Amino acid sequence: MASTLVTGIGELVTCDGSTPDLLGIRTDTALVVQDGYAAWLGPASRAPAADRRVDVGGRAVLPGFVDSHAHLVFAGDRGDEFAARMSGERYDGGGIGVSVAATRAATDDELRALLTARVAEMRAQGTTTVEVKSGYGLTVEDEARALRLARELTPETTFLGAHVVPAEYAGDRAAYVELVTGPMLEAARPHARWVDVFCEPHSAHAFTEDEARAVLTAGRDAGLELRVHGNQLGHGPGVQLAVELGAASVDHCTYLTDEDVDALASASGTTVATLLPGVEFSTRSPYPDAAGLVRAGVSVALATDCNPGTCYSSSMPFVIALAVREMGLTPGQAVYAATAGSAKSLRRSDIGRIEVGARADLTVLDAPSHVHLSYRAGVPIARALDV
Ligand code: NIG
Ligand code: FE
Repeated sequence: MASTLVTGIGELVTCDGSTPDLLGIRTDTALVVQDGYAAWLGPASRAPAADRRVDVGGRAVLPGFVDSHAHLVFAGDRGDEFAARMSGERYDGGGIGVSVAATRAATDDELRALLTARVAEMRAQGTTTVEVKSGYGLTVEDEARALRLARELTPETTFLGAHVVPAEYAGDRAAYVELVTGPMLEAARPHARWVDVFCEPHSAHAFTEDEARAVLTAGRDAGLELRVHGNQLGHGPGVQLAVELGAASVDHCTYLTDEDVDALASASGTTVATLLPGVEFSTRSPYPDAAGLVRAGVSVALATDCNPGTCYSSSMPFVIALAVREMGLTPGQAVYAATAGSAKSLRRSDIGRIEVGARADLTVLDAPSHVHLSYRAGVPIARALDV
């Protein structure tokens, strides 16, 4: 494949950890991309020849955003539920059933078209890797189908059969957990890298600590790696369970005790706290203290949680702006959490940073600095760079 020399980079935010702020910002730097990987990085004046040249005209270049938490395989719409929340209704997970019914009724081609459009929408806003969960099928066939379709677009696929207990099992939760940990897991396994569970005692639809433990250990025994939805609607066992089982990520972390923060700090090499401020925005919930988590030594990631219920936004720039304005991160900390931080939550060292040998997944800003992502909130300045 042809090589490409990227020049005219106003600010190259490598996120390689080489500076105290971890951003490793370099100026007067050019980049050679070969076969999708960064092959050379150095002073523009010493750049080697390449087959093709792309001049970005003084713009900032960042690692492509890594959206490590998204539920993109769904049909239907829940705008009414959002409007009701903005008038004071509380979110309790009950609306998930509406999306399950619409998703089951959709054809493969309809779901594939919706999923493809959502991934394209993300890429147009600078996201180059996305994790995609199942969880709106909740039958053996429908969960396997969601994962099979997601696998067509990303290797980061997550089995979330334990999203909620579907209506037809409401009288027999134990039978549903048996289905999820047995035949459904078996059908999902060939198409999934991860297993996840909505562990939430504050929702009648979600799973208790014991049920979540059963789902996660069965997934682990089947060779999947672990992620957890935890501490979203109130204090609960999700964070401690994720740390105990060595999950790669515990997501939401909206309500944390001091003990939870301590546990996450001690597990910072293993378990990342993935914050989803679009959810707090869309459910009128309090924002977690991201700056406090960073200070405590917790590994922090940012993701959209793009889904039809709690956050129908696919925009990592929006998430970054919220993290800065509402959760106390500096613009640089938010960019790091949305790239290297979320790559860590996916246990990937080949993305989320720009360095020789890593993937050349690049995002360019119509701006001279990464600060503009939050400074110019709501303005579409970010896009993935095709090289
Ligand atoms: O991450 N909390 C559980 N699952 C999703 C919401 C799903 C939905 O409401 O459709 C979340 O917030
Ligand atoms: Fe989620």
